Amino acid sequence: MQYIKKLNFVQFPPSFLNLARYNQYPSDMSDTKTSPANAGSPSPQPVIDLFQKCRDFTRADEVKAAGFYPYFRAIEENEGPVVQIEGRKVVMAGSNNYLGLTAHPKVKEAARLAVEKYGTGCSGSRYLTGTLDLHNELEARLAKFMGKEACLLFSTGYQTAQGIIPTLVQRGEYLVTDKDNHACIVAGYMMAKGMFADFVRYKHNDMADLERVISRLPAGAGKLIVSDGVFSTSGTIVDLPKLVEVAGRYNARILIDDAHSVGVIGRGGRGTASHFGLDASVDMTMGTFSKTFASLGGFVVGEERVINYLKHHSPALIFSASPTPASVAAALAALDLLEAEPERIDRLLKNADTMRKGFRKLGFRIIESQSAVVPVIVGDDMLAFTLWRELFDNGVFVNAFISPGVPPGMQMMRTSYMASHEDSHLETILGVFEKAGKKLGIIS
Ligand SMILES: Cc1ncc(COP(=O)(O)O)c(C=O)c1O
Repeated sequence: MQYIKKLNFVQFPPSFLNLARYNQYPSDMSDTKTSPANAGSPSPQPVIDLFQKCRDFTRADEVKAAGFYPYFRAIEENEGPVVQIEGRKVVMAGSNNYLGLTAHPKVKEAARLAVEKYGTGCSGSRYLTGTLDLHNELEARLAKFMGKEACLLFSTGYQTAQGIIPTLVQRGEYLVTDKDNHACIVAGYMMAKGMFADFVRYKHNDMADLERVISRLPAGAGKLIVSDGVFSTSGTIVDLPKLVEVAGRYNARILIDDAHSVGVIGRGGRGTASHFGLDASVDMTMGTFSKTFASLGGFVVGEERVINYLKHHSPALIFSASPTPASVAAALAALDLLEAEPERIDRLLKNADTMRKGFRKLGFRIIESQSAVVPVIVGDDMLAFTLWRELFDNGVFVNAFISPGVPPGMQMMRTSYMASHEDSHLETILGVFEKAGKKLGIIS
């Protein structure tokens, strides 16, 4: 217990620390500028080794020593809903493998055949020697599926945001972004800032605040509003109808990040715009292959002229190797299954609903939504670590999100579900949560 108190000051995970720091912008850009004290000061400055901060960073070691470290746990076998960690089978309740396709025989076979035919890598960017007929086929299929003129693949979803945002939003133009958008969008706007574009942020999913910030921008300037479709931490869905109205009033273009939406919400899993019947109102939708598509890579769909521009100007595309043959073939096979077996989406949403009902009935505090993400709020860093450990020891693996990655009081177990979870898996998860929740006094 003494250790627990001591660890109350631990801030985790480190990547969240960085994101929280980004999130101070733009009000606190001063720490990136040369201060007058550093610029041309005659007094000698102390020499500080660049690596000193790395040596000073011992928080992870402390949490590991206390046995509460939930990150970088190696999975030794992966069947989807059940994985093996440290020689033990545990039920996975934190994966984004939404349709459970990473273990599907057709997806695995497609990846195997692609390796046979094309080898293991493309060894070049799409622009030069890295385009396969498979890339073109997947782009054509995705454009058609999403009902847009054209599509462009990137090597990850993260890179997709970095490939679109600074390429499209440049000097004299504005990016207008939700404060809770994913880190890849934050990285994208920091890059755009480096290209002398400007960005403004609005309160999370608050369309009155969006209107407040956008109305102050020069009327004639180009603007791009970017939002997650399903927010990755909370699982809530953007208020797209109001966002579209505001965009229309201020002549702004819209980019929606549907990483957690494609294959989950909308007609046949077509994502957020489709969920609201606003397919034609969203200019661009980006997504990832690392979730529903059981693979690795990213994509954006939109108008042909815009996609063509990105193809010829986006550094993240032009200067990085293209997605591997196996990744593209797996994503294509997953798309086949998504189109052929939409009942997988029904099962996924039913599973998530069952869990929302189950957690509510047990007395847990959850964030309500219609997506596959069901956050269980515990409200304290150390309680989150302790609950995580209890769940893990009793056979359930989830993601512990702590402050400052989430606001204080919103520390959570971010649980997420798959179409391949069977009722017995869901019952196990609820049973283990109940036991651990009672033991730690989270529920009575
Ligand atoms: C909303 C959102 N966008 C983009 C990404 C990045 O996708 P990828 O894993 O393909 O880099 C993620 C990944 O977690 C995400 O949650």
